[in-house]
Amino acid sequence: AHDIADERDNSMGLNLANDAQLRALAEQLNSAVTGNWRALPLVPGATPGGADIAVTNPADRREQVGTWRAADAATVEQALRNAVDAQPKWDATPAASRAAILEHAATLLEARMPQFMAMCTKEAGKTIPDGVAEVREAVDFLRYYAGQARKLFGHPEKLPGPTGESNELHLGGRGVFVCISPWNFPLAIFLGQVAAALAAGNSVIAKPAEQTNLIGYYAVKLLHEAGVPEAVVQFLPGDGATVGAALTKDPRVAGVAFTGSTDTARAINRALAARDAAIGVLIAETGGQNALIGDSSALPEQLIKDALSSAFTSAGQRCSAARVLFVQDDIADKTIGMLAGAMAELQVGDPGLLSTDVGPVIDKDAFAMLESHGKRMRSEAKLIAEAKMDASTEHGTYFAPVAFEIDSIDRLHKEVFGPALHVVRWKAEDLDKVIDAINATGYGLTLGIHSRIDETIEHIVSRVKVGNAYVNRNQIGAVVGVQPFGGQGLSGTGPKAGGPHYLPRFGTEKTVTVNT
Ligand code: SER
Repeated sequence: AHDIADERDNSMGLNLANDAQLRALAEQLNSAVTGNWRALPLVPGATPGGADIAVTNPADRREQVGTWRAADAATVEQALRNAVDAQPKWDATPAASRAAILEHAATLLEARMPQFMAMCTKEAGKTIPDGVAEVREAVDFLRYYAGQARKLFGHPEKLPGPTGESNELHLGGRGVFVCISPWNFPLAIFLGQVAAALAAGNSVIAKPAEQTNLIGYYAVKLLHEAGVPEAVVQFLPGDGATVGAALTKDPRVAGVAFTGSTDTARAINRALAARDAAIGVLIAETGGQNALIGDSSALPEQLIKDALSSAFTSAGQRCSAARVLFVQDDIADKTIGMLAGAMAELQVGDPGLLSTDVGPVIDKDAFAMLESHGKRMRSEAKLIAEAKMDASTEHGTYFAPVAFEIDSIDRLHKEVFGPALHVVRWKAEDLDKVIDAINATGYGLTLGIHSRIDETIEHIVSRVKVGNAYVNRNQIGAVVGVQPFGGQGLSGTGPKAGGPHYLPRFGTEKTVTVNT
């Protein structure tokens, strides 16, 4: 068993309760915003053509924050060639040297927290606390995978054998890895995937979500500055249908790390399998239909605080977010009343203000999906509360947090990725039906439990098929090396990001037996 406690070296971030730190931060955030951030494909030997595409602020689409250019077919081809050529040398670089480069990147990133936070706000609509968490998590991933690379890839593992024979297990890189990341953690998940693939000795082609190209570009520039050769980590922005599809069907690609929708993960899996090439590995983190179960022994204040945090932090745009609160009938009226009261206090608005709890959703498509879900819920379910909005929806994609009472989790046909919480009442004798209904969704990412009864907690934990179960706290914000994160079933393939089994999946194993 790995003892991961000795590897913890998590970033401290910033103390937002400290006035002096806060004033300095506000100044740094303001001066970091230039309005002309620019993302281009980072592919040695390719000349990025095409038009500049404007990047605008989700909080106010009139504000242009930068531009980006999509990679064309020739650039994709050049990136693949570079990645194939550069990988053997990177793989032959001692794991300790690769680790040192990633640790250097972590130090650079920590020093540039305000610049990256400013981008998180302006390009992805993240609030200030979310921006701090984002940078911290990215720093943690860099350091954690560096530590794992030293430990697992740095030297072969000696294995037992008869006298006169030596047995060793060597881990090495697989080849070219494609990393396709989501907009909701444009820095942390982006760099987490890339850092793991690099740490294991792969060359990497990184394709960010189209909504967050700027953050991805500056993150890759930072890796280059830290010492990763330019052909070893390349940045390839573009749309999924052209750039993503071209990469995943190419026989030169050894594996794909993907975070996003279950449907896209399936399409990538099919593309990898259909190639006349070695069977590519897919490491996918996908969606969830996450439940929070509160029984009659739960402390209502704590339950509501954690439900609010789990459902509405990051405007509900976390795959870990709580979507359905199952509340036992004898505390249901009180809990629902308190939920409505607490939602009336939420500050929805400018993500650049420290007082803001909930910022905008990422784009018009996300907003339209939420609007249409809200419309359906209003006809099929009972509205519990809708938060008041301090922001204008005219220029920003703000969606007011909303809660509905529904009769069954089956009312949710798919993941509703945004600030919408659904409450279902249950009776004591129906706990197993609740558990079965949660499992029947097929998803298995996070689960929250609020209860003071040990047997109930153990019963639920042992029966619900999820990757991360949280008891008597919120169910978001997994910490690298502390709460390895990822689900089962429709929620992903595993292994868990930020956990001890993640890195070996990016590598190959070679057993060497020598007759001595
Ligand atoms: N890792 C994030 C969390 O735990 C979700 O993607 O909230």
